[in-house]
Amino acid sequence: MRPIRVGVIGTGFMGRAHALAYRAVSGIFPGLRPELEVVADIDEKAAAGACQQLGFRRYTSDWKVLVADPAVEIVSITTPNVFHREMTLAAVAAGKHVHCEKPIAPNARDARDMMEAAEAAGVVTQVGYNYIKNPLLGLAREMIANGELGEITGFRGIHAEDYMSNPEHPYSWRFDPSGGAGAIADLGSHIICMARFLLGPIEEVMADLETVVKTRPVRGSADRRPIEVDDIARLTVRFARGCRGSIEANWVATGRKMHLAFEVNGTKGTLVFNQERLNELHYYRAGRDPRHSGFLRIETGPQHHPYGLFCVAPGHQLGFNDLKTIEVADFLKAIDGGEPRGPDLREAYEIQKVIDTALVSSRERQWKVVS
Ligand SMILES: NC(=O)c1ccc[n+]([C@@H]2O[C@H](COP(=O)([O-])OP(=O)(O)OC[C@H]3O[C@@H](n4cnc5c(N)ncnc54)[C@H](O)[C@@H]3O)[C@@H](O)[C@H]2O)c1
Repeated sequence: MRPIRVGVIGTGFMGRAHALAYRAVSGIFPGLRPELEVVADIDEKAAAGACQQLGFRRYTSDWKVLVADPAVEIVSITTPNVFHREMTLAAVAAGKHVHCEKPIAPNARDARDMMEAAEAAGVVTQVGYNYIKNPLLGLAREMIANGELGEITGFRGIHAEDYMSNPEHPYSWRFDPSGGAGAIADLGSHIICMARFLLGPIEEVMADLETVVKTRPVRGSADRRPIEVDDIARLTVRFARGCRGSIEANWVATGRKMHLAFEVNGTKGTLVFNQERLNELHYYRAGRDPRHSGFLRIETGPQHHPYGLFCVAPGHQLGFNDLKTIEVADFLKAIDGGEPRGPDLREAYEIQKVIDTALVSSRERQWKVVS
């Protein structure tokens, strides 16, 4: 593959994760050759620091300069959600491939604009739903598709963390309604993505959204701001394939750090997964000798591609940054003419529609069709 130059906008949690993945990918996936060209952050000092530490050639405090830079082929967007639309549309208009963090937009209307613009321009897009890049998630999806669980009878999914559980946690962009919803957008988007990855489209939603902490302190002031977004979202969902399930998103779940978890039940078996132990998939197969009844713990290893590219030995385990590296590898291969593996802006639009439908359902206290 020829070298492909990357511009990353944002140097926070995800800006760093993207840069690390672009740095790592060529050493793990043979033939991929991204180069870190420019990093942009509204905070110039942060941009300069990231440039030096992460190995970019240049930095800027103006993301528009990055997007207009003729050397840049990939624009990686890791800013707060409210900026994703404008940045994506500008990048697409400049003919760049876009790697955008999730959720891609405050609402499905904006998400559709982004998707349509990218598809009309013929650029490749990738959205940061990194958790489904776990090879064990690929195995789970394959087992479900192969009928190894029999007919699917139910799904229980949850993404719970506790980073907003302290009522004194200050107001930040994550509470700003102009950037979209709260926990359902920040965390719920991941578990909705996982549910769709495993079981296909969600057709109907009945949701109950709740704001537990009503006001938050304003940083550097004695004032408090009212909170208009959800802390907890509880959804009952109906999948197009016929089965039903529940989905919870919760950022005030005291003690939970990365409880992104699911259970899929079928007539012949069950699968259980939790991101806090991302190298394990638990499998119950019905009909075994009752003396051996119980869950089998499947451990990730070189037999689960692309684990073996990271490490030749089983049991040594993949981590969060490795999932981001797999995401980047899929994106680069698609730019190089390979089969796009997504999730792309179209899939992210579908996820956003489920979120928007849940908001309406909760407001109107009734089942709503995802449309
Ligand atoms: N995929 C995942 O697992 C995952 C995890 C965390 C966050 N995210 C997503 O990543 C995005 C960023 O989240 P984060 O946790 O990295 O946030 P963050 O607050 O740590 O970082 C945001 C960065 O954007 C910069 N920024 C803000 N406005 C800007 C502008 N106009 N121009 C240039 N830079 C600007 C900030 O200075 C900061 O460096 C969000 O969309 C979030 O939902 C995804």
